[in-house]
Amino acid sequence: MSEFVSIAKVGDIPEGEGRTYPVNGRLVGLFFVDGEYFAINDLCPHMGASLSAGHVEDGAVTCPWHAWRFCVKDGLWLDNPKSNVKTDSYEVRIEGEDIQVNVPNAPE
Ligand code: FES
Repeated sequence: MSEFVSIAKVGDIPEGEGRTYPVNGRLVGLFFVDGEYFAINDLCPHMGASLSAGHVEDGAVTCPWHAWRFCVKDGLWLDNPKSNVKTDSYEVRIEGEDIQVNVPNAPE
């Protein structure tokens, strides 16, 4: 089962950047883009780099290791969208000053 948990405060992430947060045994990359927050699995599906350390532009984050690009909204690999390669994306909501994400527990 999963539920929303608070991981950061509104204002913690500058516009156009991401940060990594551990949630339910996973690493979540939280991005603030065009005034909205988006959460994806922070581990690049290629070789596991931290996506939140990547450059963000036009709603896409570029992996800092080999420059694969992912949509911050749905985690889709934008360099080859037909491949269906993606990193997971998670629901985000704002409760007062808290940014909350809904992340399933990592498998045992
Ligand atoms: S680890 Fe992300 S592109 Fe290689």
